[in-house]
Parts: sequence; structure tokens; C-alpha cells
Amino acid sequence: MMYFNQNSSLLGRLTAYSESDFYPFHMPGHKRADLDFPNPWSVDITEIEGFDNLHHPEGILKELQESAARLFGAGKSFLLVNGSTCGLLSAVSACVKRGGKLLMSRNCHKAAYHAVYLRDITPVYVLPKPTDFGIMGSLDPEDVERTLDTQPDIRAVLVVSPTYDGVVSDIEKIATAAHRHGVPLIVDEAHGAHFPFGEGHLFPKSALCRRADVVIQSLHKTLPAFTQTAILHLQSGLVDETALRRFLGMYQSSSPSYLLMASMEQCMELIRREGSRRFADFERLLNQFYETCGGLSHIRLFDGAGEPNCFDWDHSKILISASDLGLSGQDLYRILLKKYHLQLEMASGHYVLALTSLMDRPEGFKRLAEALFQIERDYAPAAAQLRGQCAPAPPGDLRQTERQGAPAAPATTGLCGGDIYRIPRLAMTPAQAIELPGQSIPLEESAGAVSQEYICPYPPGIPLLAPGERIDETLLETILRLRAEGFALEGLSDLTNKWINIVKS
Ligand SMILES: Cc1ncc(COP(=O)(O)O)c(C=O)c1O
Repeated sequence: MMYFNQNSSLLGRLTAYSESDFYPFHMPGHKRADLDFPNPWSVDITEIEGFDNLHHPEGILKELQESAARLFGAGKSFLLVNGSTCGLLSAVSACVKRGGKLLMSRNCHKAAYHAVYLRDITPVYVLPKPTDFGIMGSLDPEDVERTLDTQPDIRAVLVVSPTYDGVVSDIEKIATAAHRHGVPLIVDEAHGAHFPFGEGHLFPKSALCRRADVVIQSLHKTLPAFTQTAILHLQSGLVDETALRRFLGMYQSSSPSYLLMASMEQCMELIRREGSRRFADFERLLNQFYETCGGLSHIRLFDGAGEPNCFDWDHSKILISASDLGLSGQDLYRILLKKYHLQLEMASGHYVLALTSLMDRPEGFKRLAEALFQIERDYAPAAAQLRGQCAPAPPGDLRQTERQGAPAAPATTGLCGGDIYRIPRLAMTPAQAIELPGQSIPLEESAGAVSQEYICPYPPGIPLLAPGERIDETLLETILRLRAEGFALEGLSDLTNKWINIVKS
């Protein structure tokens, strides 16, 4: 049962969703709460007298950016109306000259890869290690240090912390390593805009107070602001501010939306006025939720405290695995959506992500906890029976279960747990590879070739192969095995995953 009519318009569907009883455990962080805002048509303007210009702020927008810097505890802050995406493009472009070298974690968002392409940068990757839960863990600062030692021509370090799953790296140590080599650290904190405001221990400290040079946060992901709103904080003499401003002027729309900017202003005003109480309430609800769910016998919630390779984690991203009940992430996602009208943020191979924010209501947490207990009651007997009949899946088995309803063989680890990731040899920069003449060949015959495309198992969406990398036999074997086992592989323009574009030899 869906809340909208298949023939309705986009606005019709949005309205139907807003009027339904489906609860949003997804972005944006405002959770469609009834916040004070006038009719959007009545306040949508362009750069007219008295309203300043985001590209040369001198008046109200300059003041807004300065008050943002004070609130977030940053040196300088820049409002972004094209999401963290334009912040990442601008920060990388400002820190690394065309043709330069960037050290980046392999699990970076595609915007970082796009920056590498646009500036013909040579990427040097470091790979985070997996957790036992089967998600990518924190980046090891020693890997960063070692890489910087061996490649002194690296011009900047870029890491994502927290990850989409909420795992945070030791930014302080990574910043120390970067600064020891005289280069800036850019932190993609797109999923951590709420970090500066937590009261207790449920949200890690922001990279802003861990000596990062540039920190980019999406307000829309975890705070009450409209979609696409984000902010870039700068606090370093290691970054060329003039270049940063120039690139922000290129990657941001020349018609920045005053609705978006006003929503950022309102978001900050709400945090100033009521943040302390709201965050305390939010943390209390989260604590209660985790405590209640401690009574679950088969369904497991991610607890970063007990995990290897997890420096810290954000409790507001609730990762739930029902693989002991034989349910894949997709199974659990569909049950929560269809039976309980709970719309989660994401389904992975073996878990789901419920994204929460300070705008969540007690009703949402209650409904989610009750649904999980009921799912246990519904599925535990069949799962026990099945366990009696089948041998458990071998350790490190990577198969996903796609069956819906009936319990399937337990899937205990995610794809990261299978140790499939190695960084292939870079034969040329991604931009060179993409722009040289190419040819399409069967994937099976691609060993030895230089790829023009990505291959990313989804989830976790981290590239096994990126443009400019040479495909070796071991990597090809892994890719073919994953394909044969039915994993979703994204990135190839041939959606059947049979053909790959390579650099013409
Ligand atoms: C880790 C990470 N960084 C950056 C972005 C881009 O953020 P935005 O959607 O605000 O452009 C995303 C988007 O999902 C993301 O997951």
C-alpha cells in the first residue's frame, strides 16, 4: 500500500507523503517539521537592493556568514547553496593546483572524485579498514603519515568523517600528520553538521575543533534546513583563500536561492535559541531507544564502542541488522516500509540505516522500537527452524539475501568484511583516462587494460576500480565473482555489467 496515486504529479506525491502516516527516518534533517517559514513564493527574490550578493558579500550575507562562524566555532564560514558537493569541488580545487597530487580516502563521496577529474589531479588513495559489523571503519592516521612520507609532492589530504554510516576517524592525528608535511587537511563532514552542538557523548567532536583546515558540512542532512544547504568552514593559513573564493564563485549557482539562505539563517537561529534544550531531548530519546533495543535478542544495532577500526561513531545514525533472522537489509527495509510505514534512509546488503536528527519525535523512536520487537517475534521461529536445517554460511561468505518475507540464510558480514578492497595501480590520471579515445570490451577480457570507468559494489559504494587504473587478474577475478554472485555493481555505462570502457590501446 502506497501513500500516493501512481498517476499523481510530483507535487501531488510530495503532498500525499507529507499527509501520510509514514515516518521519516531519512534526510533532510528538518524531518518536515512544522517550522515557521512564510509561503515560499512570497519571499523568493534575486540580488536586489538591500539583499547583498553571495558572490561578493558586503551586507546581510556577510553578517550571516560571520554569525555562522561564531556559532560553529570556525575561523570563517561560507554559505553553500549547491550542497557539500560544491564545497568539496571548491576546497580540492583551491588546495591542489591543476595536475597536482591529492591524498584521499578511497571511501570519499563522488564529488571528491569529480574534483579530481575536473582538475586533472593524481589521486593517492588510503583505504579505511573494515569493522566487524561489515562496514568501512576509520582511516588509520599511520597510513596517512606513511603515504605523506613517501610522496612529498602531495598537496592536500581529504578524508570523509563521519561516513554515511556514522564512523569517524581520528582527525586530530590525521591533521597532525598533514601539518607536519605542510599540507592542509580537508574534512568532508557532510553528515556531521550537528557535531558542534551535541551535549553528551552521542555525537563525536567536530573536525572543526580537531585542527582540520577546511570542514564541509551539509546542513540539510542532519539539521533543520532546506535540501541543498551546506556550509564550508575555513580555519587555516595553509589554504589560499582567494583561490577558494574564486572556485566557490564558479561551482555555486550565479543565482543563489534566498529561500535556501534564509532557511540556513533560521536553522542557526533555532540552534541559538533552542539548541541546548532540543539537543538534550534528542540525546535522551536516542539513549532511551538504544537502551530499549538492548532487549532485542536477534536484531543487532551497530555499537561502535565494541568494534575494531572504529575510532568513534555517531549514534544518531542507527544501523540495524536482522541478518540473524535471515533478513537482508533490503528485506528489513521493505518490512519496515510496507508493514510499519517507517521510511528508512538506506538499505544495505545486511543492514538498514535509520537517520535521526534533533527534529525527530518520541513517536518515531517508539514506532521503530516496537516494529523491531514485533519483527523478532514474527521471524525468530522460522529462522531457528532454518538454522536447524542448514549449515550456517561460511565465515566471510559475501552472498546477499534478496528474498522477501521468508527467512533466508544468515548473512553476517557486509561486503567490506570480505577483504575485497585493494587499490589498483594508477596508469594515468582519471582525467587522462576518461578523455583519451576509448573502446568497449567484454569485462571478462579486460585484464591488463586501463579503465575509463568506475566499478563500485553498492553498498558500500566504494570503487573497486576507478578511471586510470589498470585492471589486474586478481581484481578482475573479484569483480567477476561479485557479478556472478549477484552483487549490485555500479559505475559501468553498460548497465548489464557485461562491457567496460577502457583506454584504447
Ligand atoms: C560523504 C558525503 N559527502 C558529500 C556529499 C554531498 O553532499 P550534498 O548532497 O550536500 O551535496 C554526500 C551526499 O550524500 C555525502 O554522502
